[in-house]
Amino acid sequence: MITENSLDQLLSVVSIEQVVGDYVTLKKAGARYTGLCPFHDEKTPSFSVTPSMGIFKCFGCNKGGNAIQFVREIENITFAEAARQLADRYGVELIEVGNKMDEDQYQELQRKREGLQVVLDYAQGFFKQQLNDTEDGALALSYFHERGYTQETRQYWGLGYSPASWDALVKDAESKGFKPERLQEAGLVKQRDKGGWYDMYRGRVIFPLKSSSGKMVGFAGRKMDKTENSPKYINSPETELYKKSDFLYGLFEAKQGIGKEDNAYLVEGYTDVITLWQAGIRNAVASSGTALTPGQIRLIRKFSNNITVLYDGDAAGIRASLRGIDLLLGEGLNVNVVALPEGEDPDSLCKSMGGEAFGNYLKEKAQNFIFFKAQLLLSTSASDPIKKSEAVKDVLQSVALIQDSIKRSVLTRELSNICAVDESILIQELGALLRKNLRDNQASEQMLKEASTYVVAPQPVIPEDAFSEFHQEGALFRLLLLFGDRVMPSHGQTVFQYAIESIMGESSSVAEFKEIIHSPLFRNIWQVWESQQSDAAEAMPLSWPSQTAFIHHSDSAISAWAADVLSRDYVLSEEFEKNYIYIKKESDDVQIQMGVDSVVAHLKRIKIEKEIQATLERLLEAQGEEQELLMEYLTQLNETKLEISKALGAAVSGSGFGAQPKSTQI
Ligand code: CTP
Ligand code: MN
Repeated sequence: MITENSLDQLLSVVSIEQVVGDYVTLKKAGARYTGLCPFHDEKTPSFSVTPSMGIFKCFGCNKGGNAIQFVREIENITFAEAARQLADRYGVELIEVGNKMDEDQYQELQRKREGLQVVLDYAQGFFKQQLNDTEDGALALSYFHERGYTQETRQYWGLGYSPASWDALVKDAESKGFKPERLQEAGLVKQRDKGGWYDMYRGRVIFPLKSSSGKMVGFAGRKMDKTENSPKYINSPETELYKKSDFLYGLFEAKQGIGKEDNAYLVEGYTDVITLWQAGIRNAVASSGTALTPGQIRLIRKFSNNITVLYDGDAAGIRASLRGIDLLLGEGLNVNVVALPEGEDPDSLCKSMGGEAFGNYLKEKAQNFIFFKAQLLLSTSASDPIKKSEAVKDVLQSVALIQDSIKRSVLTRELSNICAVDESILIQELGALLRKNLRDNQASEQMLKEASTYVVAPQPVIPEDAFSEFHQEGALFRLLLLFGDRVMPSHGQTVFQYAIESIMGESSSVAEFKEIIHSPLFRNIWQVWESQQSDAAEAMPLSWPSQTAFIHHSDSAISAWAADVLSRDYVLSEEFEKNYIYIKKESDDVQIQMGVDSVVAHLKRIKIEKEIQATLERLLEAQGEEQELLMEYLTQLNETKLEISKALGAAVSGSGFGAQPKSTQI
């Protein structure tokens, strides 16, 4: 465990532009540097480095933080490893203290992982041996034979067999000194109610699951017969080594092929991957029959930006998976699709066509996802104008996820043919969608500019839910980070003290805070407040921690958040009468005070509205005296709400901002 102090010291001597500069070509732009983000695919720079604050931030993919976090992300190592690497480079001595809780936990976790690994490796050997060297295994061998798998294939994929007996694995494991409890943690055995253990995979053929670096992480066991009323597959439970959402079957075996072909085939099943491999198609991975996750997409992206999704031939399944594909587009991947004929899957078709023919078939039939989606949706809606316009919008939504503007415009032109809709109409609609996406994602100014070229007059940027709790909390934390130690003229308190006392002073409703990042952040702020409360005997004004404390924070979510806020020139404070107000970093105290007043009032209003809602619900159930008490309480609540609304009105009309024209807001 590295001490906070020495991390601080390290960060104070590290030059972030130098560290980032090793990986990214940076161009100076005022007090900052900009460049192409190394974490996602982009053509126009939305990545920035601010040396004065020691932070980096990408407005495209939202990654951000300090130099240690940059190294950690880009080298894919742990925080401590990244810190040590930087310390070496800059000749800083890191002080590491042992015996801390975290260190112990880490060691414990590491021990657990290693233990699990040993069990899995053992079981893999056992299953393989059962397949190849036992009488019982002959049944499984003939199953694989029937499926057309050669000995080389079985060997390469480490296929195995778990004997039909209840305890073959348990017994063998115990004889080799493994405790059944350890096997249970790996999902290999289960305990009987009456005591004793039994094998989970008995009578199944085994597909070992390997991580992308080739380590054994789990097993899938397929039953061999069709009749029995049991699941087709039994899969490993999630463990320290196996996280389903970060796993792709076959990636270890396919990653070289994916790089070489610069394309990954995405299929559904284990058997699809293996059959394709045997037929010489060496760049297929399987999502194991579930919807794609961002983690899986990141895995593929390490090796190629091109992905071809192979669909089994059933239309319902295809429609259900369209959303997952949008995820791929949003991550900057080029997506093609091959829809296989009804009733076929890659395994069956590859076998009946032969590998070479199937390989050619895939290349021939691969179709851009956007066109595929357009044809699919239009095929059922072309005769109904309303349905058709919905379908077109749906397709454009996918187009809007593509970051490359040239690709977008090429696709739009072609879409106008496919859909028989005027290209200019599509462009207009696409512009609206792009702006909406940008509002939702708070993208870079560059991207905003790009989007605004789609229409003659840019629309003001107003999120529909600017008044929501989520936005208001976000605004509050931003104001605190930027201006926490400023004194508010008419309250005579720091922004920090005023805000925290007026919103949270009465009740510490930590759990009510919405966004994940906000909760630890709030807890952190709350602790600062409390520690000062206890020694605030002489009524000292409460002081706000420095911005550096947040940038250097050991919780990387907090540090990334600070980098994000500090990388922007404006901080969103509030919406006044449909005009968006941004407070500039160099703002004067009066402006800041108005921002804080407004956010505080809104948060109070939200809290009161929740309370009113809850009271109304209780009132429905209440009777007699309780009913009267509740009515009285409700009246009080409504009065308070009225007061707050008045205060909000004052914050608006007294601001002098309300009349500002929209065009000057950004
Ligand atoms: N799957 C699963 N559990 C099931 C069914 C399916 O985990 N009960 C997952 C497996 O990862 C499987 C994938 O979904 O590989 C695709 O399912 P399916 O097409 O039914 O299985 P295949 O592996 O293709 O097997 P087969 O070729 O024998 O039908
Ligand atoms: Mn299948």
